[in-house]
Amino acid sequence: MRKNIVAGNWKMNKDVIEAQQLMFQLLSYKKENATNCEVWIAPPALYLMMAKDVFEFDEIGVFSQDMSEHESGAFTGEISADMLKSIAATGSIIGHSERRLYHGETDSHCNRKIKLALDKGLTPIYCNGETLEQRKTGQHLEVVKNQIEVALFTLSAEEIKKVVIAYEPVWAIGTGETASPEQAQEIHAHIRSLIADKYGKEVADEISILYGGSVKPDNAKEIFSQPDIDGGLIGGAALKVEDFSKIIEGF
Ligand code: G3P
Repeated sequence: MRKNIVAGNWKMNKDVIEAQQLMFQLLSYKKENATNCEVWIAPPALYLMMAKDVFEFDEIGVFSQDMSEHESGAFTGEISADMLKSIAATGSIIGHSERRLYHGETDSHCNRKIKLALDKGLTPIYCNGETLEQRKTGQHLEVVKNQIEVALFTLSAEEIKKVVIAYEPVWAIGTGETASPEQAQEIHAHIRSLIADKYGKEVADEISILYGGSVKPDNAKEIFSQPDIDGGLIGGAALKVEDFSKIIEGF
C-alpha cells in the first residue's frame, strides 16, 4: 500500500553507544511528535537487535542495509532473510549503489534478493539510479528502465505492490548535490509509468517511490511535495536526530 516514508540509511557509521543514543533520541521524537509519514531506519547489522529492543512497540521500522540472495549456508559475512525474520526486522535495503559499486551487485542479484525477501514476508527497499556519466550522456531514463525491468518485472502484481522503490541518482549520494525536485519527479513518474504499463495504473499507484541523494532539512519539503515522490531514503542527515526529524516534518 502506498504511504509516505522517511527512511534513514546509517551506512557504516556509529559505535554501539552512539547508535543506542540516536535510537533513543528517535524514539523520544516519535513518541512526542505526530508524524505524517512512517519512520524507518537501517542501522549497521550489528545493531539490528538493539533497535528491535529500543523500538519494542514498532514505533520505527527496522531494516538491514543488505540481505543475502541465499537461504543459508557457507556465505561468510552474509545475513539471511530468515535471520532478519527471526529478529522481526521489517525488511532490507537491496541494491544500494554502494553495494553495486564495491561488491559488484547487479540487477539480477537484486531480483533474486527481492523475491526471497517477499517470500519471507520482508519488505524490500529496492535502490536504483544512474551515474553522473549516464545522466550527462542522456542515458538516465534507459538505465533506470533496465534496473526496474530486470529487478522487478518477474514479480506478480501482488508481489510488486509490496516493494518500496528508492530512486537514488548516484551523483547525488553523499555529494551535497541534490537532484532538483523536477529532476527527481521526472524519474519517479518514469518509474511509475513503467510499472503502470506492465501491471496497470492501479498497481503502480499503490507503490511507494522514495527519493535518495543529499536530502536535507532545507530541501525535503519541496522534494516530498512532488506528485510521484512518497518520501526519502536519507544517508548523512539520518545520523543526527535534529536533521532527521526536520526531514520527517517535510510531510
Ligand atoms: O541510501 C541513502 C543514501 O544513499 C543517501 O545518502 O548522504 O546523500 O543522504 P545521502
